[in-house]
Amino acid sequence: MIDNFPRIKLGHFPTPIEYLANITEYLGGPEIFIKRDDCTGLATGGNKTRKLEFIMPDALNSKADLVVTVGAIQSNHARQTAASCAILGIKCLIVLEQRVADATEAYMNSGNVFLNQLFDAEMVLCPIGRDIQEYASEIMGIKISEGKKPYFIPVGGSNHLGELGYIECMREIEEHDKDSLFTHIVLATGSGGTQAGLVAGKKVYSSNAQIIGISIKDKRNDQEEKVLKLTNNSCDYIGIEHTSRDEVIAFDDYVGEGYAIPTEGMKHAVKLMASKEAILLDPVYTGKAFAGLVDLAQKGHFKKTDKILFIHTGGSAAFPAFEWAFK
Ligand SMILES: Cc1ncc(COP(=O)(O)O)c(C=O)c1O
Repeated sequence: MIDNFPRIKLGHFPTPIEYLANITEYLGGPEIFIKRDDCTGLATGGNKTRKLEFIMPDALNSKADLVVTVGAIQSNHARQTAASCAILGIKCLIVLEQRVADATEAYMNSGNVFLNQLFDAEMVLCPIGRDIQEYASEIMGIKISEGKKPYFIPVGGSNHLGELGYIECMREIEEHDKDSLFTHIVLATGSGGTQAGLVAGKKVYSSNAQIIGISIKDKRNDQEEKVLKLTNNSCDYIGIEHTSRDEVIAFDDYVGEGYAIPTEGMKHAVKLMASKEAILLDPVYTGKAFAGLVDLAQKGHFKKTDKILFIHTGGSAAFPAFEWAFK
């Protein structure tokens, strides 16, 4: 079904699914597997590669000569958008939002911000207190008056096109898991498109796995409503029936004080994954999501016989901005 939609190859697919023997032993069950979407390729990899493979054809089709997107200062989406623009020869403008109070010099300049510079993206800081969407529209207005033809990608690449990437991811999971052994799929959920694509994909490919989002910012009900809306937009776009509300689960117990603010659980999860499996999570998304998985396993939320697939959505490029938190 997804094969009918325009797609540009930007990454390496399918990504591997690996068994985490050491973590499984550490937890004493359930069995933990990982889908390595940190290995998608495109400038250190991550979930946005899948989304951009379906979004960029639309940008090219619109004859845009400037791609504009928005995100947090250390946005992985911004970095991967800048990288795909570099490959496709289109200018990229990123409007960055200061969501973290008392940001360090490293947060403002290293990690993804540094990489954006290497990819020749123009970066504009949204003034504190301004609505980032409105500010981005104003900047686009200025660019249009200068003769540019901008194409806007929403935060996180979360729209009906980006979500095709995660419907496709669900196909990969089902092709790997022919006997439908995975009981749960756990992932970080932020702008919501990754989870929405998986939930829509679950319907398309008749998966039995329960999808559990771990919110990295918003309260449970807000996050679930956002993901449900995105999922149903995707269902409309690909022409299938809407999903039911109870298919969308987003726990909010692992956010801590707020978006991108390190938690003890995140630090423990990052160190656990590094020391036991030599896999790098990230401090903002997958670290908090894996902290959630570990806590749920230790609280007995899963049966010991369950098989859990954790989606590693990338993000380790942001580490230089967060080293201080681990010292
Ligand atoms: C590394 C990483 N994981 C997960 C997410 C969340 O994905 P989504 O925004 O589609 O919910 C993001 C979003 O930026 C991310 O950068």
